[in-house]
Amino acid sequence: MGPSVLIAGAGPSGLVLALILLQNGVSVRIINNELKHRIGSRGAGIQARTLELYEILGIFPDIRKAGEPVKSEGKPFSMAVYNPGKTEPTKLLPSNYVAPTPDTPHTYGLTLSQERHEEILREYLKDLSCTVELGCELRDFEQFTDHVVAHLVKTDADGQQQEERTKFDWLVGTDGAHSMVRKQLGLSFLGETRTEQNMALGDIVIENLDNKIWHTWNVPPKLIMLRANHSTSQVFTYVYTGRAGEKPLTREEFIEEFYALTGRRDLTFGENTWMSNYRPNVRMVDRMRDGRVFIAGDAAHCHTPSGAQGLNSSIQDAVNLGWKLAIVAKGLAPEALLDTYSEERIRVIAHMLQVTTKMHDKTWVHVPGAPADDESRWKRSPDLSMLGVNYCGSSIVLEGKDKGKAAAESNAYATAEGGRVQAAYRAPDAPGLVSVDDAQMTNLFSVFRATVHTVLVFGGDAAGRALVADVLGRLPKDTVQRWSSFATVLEDRAGHAYGGYGVEAGELTVVVVRPDGVIGAVVFEAEGVEAYFQRIFG
Ligand SMILES: Cc1cc2nc3c(=O)[nH]c(=O)nc-3n(C[C@H](O)[C@H](O)[C@H](O)COP(=O)(O)OP(=O)(O)OC[C@H]3O[C@@H](n4cnc5c(N)ncnc54)[C@H](O)[C@@H]3O)c2cc1C
Ligand SMILES: *[C@@H]1O[C@H](CO)[C@@H](O)[C@H](O)[C@H]1NC(C)=O
Ligand SMILES: *[C@@H]1O[C@H](CO)[C@@H](O)[C@H](O)[C@H]1NC(C)=O
Repeated sequence: MGPSVLIAGAGPSGLVLALILLQNGVSVRIINNELKHRIGSRGAGIQARTLELYEILGIFPDIRKAGEPVKSEGKPFSMAVYNPGKTEPTKLLPSNYVAPTPDTPHTYGLTLSQERHEEILREYLKDLSCTVELGCELRDFEQFTDHVVAHLVKTDADGQQQEERTKFDWLVGTDGAHSMVRKQLGLSFLGETRTEQNMALGDIVIENLDNKIWHTWNVPPKLIMLRANHSTSQVFTYVYTGRAGEKPLTREEFIEEFYALTGRRDLTFGENTWMSNYRPNVRMVDRMRDGRVFIAGDAAHCHTPSGAQGLNSSIQDAVNLGWKLAIVAKGLAPEALLDTYSEERIRVIAHMLQVTTKMHDKTWVHVPGAPADDESRWKRSPDLSMLGVNYCGSSIVLEGKDKGKAAAESNAYATAEGGRVQAAYRAPDAPGLVSVDDAQMTNLFSVFRATVHTVLVFGGDAAGRALVADVLGRLPKDTVQRWSSFATVLEDRAGHAYGGYGVEAGELTVVVVRPDGVIGAVVFEAEGVEAYFQRIFG
């Protein structure tokens, strides 16, 4: 039997989806139409929430090692703002660094070129015996009640082509903004292309510019921003906007425009490894599933580059779909569970597009009369960390008592209110837990897995806890891990779990954490636990 899932497109969403399915023991084939892996910085920002998901996937340490924190304690300033012709900045914008807390170990994202990021993801796939098949294009597909037939065309290095028609159980189009899967499904892709705004992005070497800070020149309506791709690298990623004309810029034209705009002829440019002329697009579909076929990532939504939400939200699509598709593909849950992928993600994406479009306009679109050194344009809403992304109102999420629920439902991107954790929000971390068995210190993010639900049982008496254990015992094998009251199995010595989860000692509180790190249920008796899992496994 061949692989169960065909993943068409090996960008970040396809790679992360493949990793989750493989970790879950579901076989995949992942293809990419191009003959070589793509290069360049592109989506170079990895949001704080994505880092948390990477902890759950077990790949965070390698990503952290390769990337550069967006803000760190030792860097008081985040951006230097220059007037044309001056080598000293007119203003240094403070970074307003916020320190991590026990429940939020990542207060900022990382920058990491998409090229390197994808390479790391491919290394993890390789460990699971999966390689991306290059030069393999999905041309079209046909859908049947219990399978999908994909029409693939393979091109080898000599340009020889070979066609095949192969059967899969499921097809996921992670094939980017021009997605053929979306087009063949006939899904609407509504929104706008900002034709008035040509942007040029690229990676270029500048040997004599400070690589520890971001740099910007604003000469309305033109704006240039430079950011080193790592604090040890002189490769700068540039974003240039506001020029007139349709023609893509070359390296030499960019440099001429740069000198004309900034007057900084003291800066000397080296190799330009990657360059892209880009027109912001803001579009999304209204549905991400059609029978046995799904779309995820840019295939389903595209963004302006501001605030770097494109890649993060693509990865969140993959994480939301991954665990659901895994248990359905293994026959453990009904197909209807897959409808909740679209249901949960569409609302979040719609909200995100509003936020990023507003921010894009604030940063890159010149308002006549606005001061050239207006620093408010660089202020970023804390929403962009994506830590507040929530699935309130989802049909599979269960909140036993509706504490603060109504307020949250109105905003898919809200930061959770203080107090007890709520269903539909991210499950916070809690360090300082001590395993009673082996006295090892651990934290919740190390305990969570992309392959199982994690059930945290706080407080209660032995009888109440036994009833919960009973419910869990009847669930499909290996789909749930239980961390019985922290008082007995994991001892919450520092109080971060009780504190961070806002749970009072005494009362039985069961927090069910989904494989995507989202709280699926907060309930107070065994019946609630049963009701939640009924929604998942049927
Ligand atoms: C110039 C530029 C700058 C960007 N800057 C940022 C940024 O600063 N921050 C940010 O967050 N995001 C940014 N993005 C967006 C970010 O790159 C995307 O959001 C992200 O790559 C989406 O990942 P994906 O996996 O959904 O799609 P993609 O990365 O587009 O991957 C799709 C893959 O599918 C392949 N493919 C297409 N059709 C087929 C087919 N029929 N068969 C097989 N394979 C196929 C493609 O070759 C491609 O490799 C930028 C994008 C561009 C182009
Ligand atoms: C993801 O979010 C981080 C903020 O934490 C941001 O810096 C980064 O650019 C985002 N990246 C993408 C590709 O969305
Ligand atoms: C910086 O850019 C270079 C050239 O594009 C690339 O090879 C390298 O991996 C990048 N480094 C990081 C940390 O993004």
